[in-house]
Amino acid sequence: AERFGRGGSDIAFTPVPPNTDDALRIPDGYASSVVVRWGDPVLPDAPAFDFDDQSADAQAKQFGYNCDFVTFFPMGHNRALLWVNHEYTDENLMFRGYTGGAAATEEQIRIALAAHGGSVVEIERVRGTGEWRLVTKGRRRYNRRVTAQTQMRFSGPAAGSDLLKTAADPVGLNPVGMLNNCSGGSTPWGTVLTAEENFDQYFVNGGKVPPAQLPYISRYTIPAGVTSGSRRFDRVEERFDLARHPNEVNRFGWIVEIDPFDPTSTPVKRTALGRFKHEAATTTLARDGRLVVYMGDDSRFEYVYKFVSKKRYIPGFDRHNRTLLDEGTLYVARFTGDSPASEIDGSGRLPSDGLFDGSGEWIPLVSGDRSYVDGMTAAEVLVYTRAAADKVGATKMDRPEDVERNPVTGAVYVALTNNSNRTAAQVDEANPRPSNKHGHVLEIVEKGDDAGETTFAWSLPLVCGDPNDPATYFAGYDKTKVSPISCPDNVAFDRDGNLWIATDGNQLGSNDGLFVMPLRGKERGHLRQFLTVPVGAETCGPMVTQDQRSVFVAVQHPGEIDGATPDNPASHWPDGAQPRPSVAVVWHGAGRRIGA
Ligand code: FEO
Ligand code: CA
Ligand code: CA
Ligand code: CA
Repeated sequence: AERFGRGGSDIAFTPVPPNTDDALRIPDGYASSVVVRWGDPVLPDAPAFDFDDQSADAQAKQFGYNCDFVTFFPMGHNRALLWVNHEYTDENLMFRGYTGGAAATEEQIRIALAAHGGSVVEIERVRGTGEWRLVTKGRRRYNRRVTAQTQMRFSGPAAGSDLLKTAADPVGLNPVGMLNNCSGGSTPWGTVLTAEENFDQYFVNGGKVPPAQLPYISRYTIPAGVTSGSRRFDRVEERFDLARHPNEVNRFGWIVEIDPFDPTSTPVKRTALGRFKHEAATTTLARDGRLVVYMGDDSRFEYVYKFVSKKRYIPGFDRHNRTLLDEGTLYVARFTGDSPASEIDGSGRLPSDGLFDGSGEWIPLVSGDRSYVDGMTAAEVLVYTRAAADKVGATKMDRPEDVERNPVTGAVYVALTNNSNRTAAQVDEANPRPSNKHGHVLEIVEKGDDAGETTFAWSLPLVCGDPNDPATYFAGYDKTKVSPISCPDNVAFDRDGNLWIATDGNQLGSNDGLFVMPLRGKERGHLRQFLTVPVGAETCGPMVTQDQRSVFVAVQHPGEIDGATPDNPASHWPDGAQPRPSVAVVWHGAGRRIGA
């Protein structure tokens, strides 16, 4: 008998209509509260937040800016640790009168460095409910801030390679800080994987870069001059000037593993997982027990990757399991359509076989010290993974964001958020719309539903947009009954195998939100909007707890609207004052499961 999975028949809430309200809107019967906000104390000795009296010392002990990935480590029924990424900073909303990094005070730059990274915070359940609150008293022994200045280390095949050596770290093993941590994942042994995404924006280039770096600099869109770096971190730490420290940029763009239960542990940048603008790192097990990590590279025309460990996961054998991410094979995906090219005509309408679908394969790039890419060493493949993937004929996708595996069926889902630059000549069956404004979701069914396999079938169950637009598809469901959706970004599963989709950058004129779509049975494709976030915000997380009584969302960058400033804010969420990026929790008021 099936343990879980009623195919979505138990999803019954009335969808939240599209809106432009400066509020977190949830369905009737549900309740919400804010768990933790930018500036709230993380370390027990953190000072209270004061918008008009900020300091770098305070920020390094307080919850950082722009919360993104959220994951949850239960400690019994009523206590848990929450890990939250702090992707980036909006200085123009953080500081009054801010006019750019060149004019910023050094203290403001140091505050921004400290507002990046991630937080571990202890939370407690309001007993008998799905509500969780920040623990604000007592020892809070696990609470931790990780920032752009936290000492880290490299592991895996590229650790210690010449490409990672700098004047400050001549052995290439000891990077400092993490930046632009967007989405992530967790491991079966209870650690966080956090993904460094748009790290390029933190660097300036005040002079000549060594010629050997040049092709890779452009492939990773590293700035070509001083003025292109908007934050000017180089003004307080010269390592952010490429001209002086050309390899420092190679030390960002990794998956970082952090143990939330050991606040003294050194975060580890796992080089075997490659270097790109990492969005996510979703782990699962192959049928034979090897660990598999799915990852997206979120830029236009970038790729989907997976890593398969060499050795197997052994439950309870932590010392062994913590080596799995250092040894294995990194693959990149190629998607081949099964309909004639003439039927992928850029209209976005389905081809005559009724589906955007086809077959695909995972192409190996590197295993340990062995490179599969002509003309590149293993270390080069790992440090310049984009260039390696270019050479093997991987499929250029419409911004691969989050990847998640359905816990009920084993199928894998990729959010492709949008791609305004794809031309009519560049469409293919996996990316079938030119100037793709609204994005789509791709489903991968690996051979035998085994994550360790290297071939798969794929299809697009969701082609986003206004359901009245003929170039949209909701898995064949009646489009008069679905919610409009645009720009899928983070995705998550509940225990029943329903797909939860958070959006970023809604192009339909209303606020971003969180949606749920069943994937099996008669309800497959019945997409409904579960919540909307305030003005200017994107919806991150999301995370449905295993008991299905709570869903956490990170409300990132409320008020991020062109021209908004602290004296002219576009959002007052959540306090009625300056906007503060925050994690919120939503639960059913009568204690029913999320979605009821
Ligand atoms: Fe930071 Fe790809 O979203
Ligand atoms: Ca087809
Ligand atoms: Ca994202
Ligand atoms: Ca995003």
